[in-house]
Amino acid sequence: MKLVVGNQKSYLEKEKTLKFAEELNKVTYSNVIICPSYIYFNMFNNENILLGSQNVSSYTSGATTGELSCEQLKSMGVSLSLVGHSERREKLHESIEDTNIKIKRLLENNMVPILCVGETKEEKDNNKTEEIVLDEIKGAFLNVDNELISKIIIAYEPIWSIGTGVIPTIEDINNIAITIKNYLIKNYNTNNILLYGGSVNKNNIDELNTISNIDGYLIGGASTKIDEFIEIIEKCQ
Ligand code: PGA
Repeated sequence: MKLVVGNQKSYLEKEKTLKFAEELNKVTYSNVIICPSYIYFNMFNNENILLGSQNVSSYTSGATTGELSCEQLKSMGVSLSLVGHSERREKLHESIEDTNIKIKRLLENNMVPILCVGETKEEKDNNKTEEIVLDEIKGAFLNVDNELISKIIIAYEPIWSIGTGVIPTIEDINNIAITIKNYLIKNYNTNNILLYGGSVNKNNIDELNTISNIDGYLIGGASTKIDEFIEIIEKCQ
């Protein structure tokens, strides 16, 4: 079984989310995490499905206008959160230090961080994938207890693959997965859950499922269409 995490970004407005949630609320699969926009959390009420956030505040509850703290999210039944997504790094200038703080906030609240790492096209073409990915993991894990590090889920998401319909070769995904897993064992003695993200859809899921070193997927666009999302979930049983 592979884990399926849906990252709905800011794609859907109210009516479409209501329809999506109505269908997802009926399924009985236990390998699913959905990360809708914050404002829609209460539309999702399926006990089998975990609720994740797309982001968290690096501050604890208090005087931080417009932010959502881990404590607030936890009180709404949210148990995980994405951190360090490339869209936040690029468009909102989040640094690896911000990601590190958010990971600590989440872990303090017994919540699970899903750390996103991955290279740009230019970095890939310059054979920098491994260096970039391992550096991001190292920076994000700085001064986090090894015991807690094991709880973090890592999503390898090549930036050039997000939303483009293009995915790396199966061999490339497998190689970076092995590199990441070996690095984690060697440096932290942990065996973290590792996801692949970037243009996962119903047409490439069978091929991706052949990669035994990948434990699941972080899915953007295809997690906004209920039929396709359910088809992918079924194929990951
Ligand atoms: P995508 O997005 O599936 O639309 O490529 C993945 C992500 O950004 O997490």
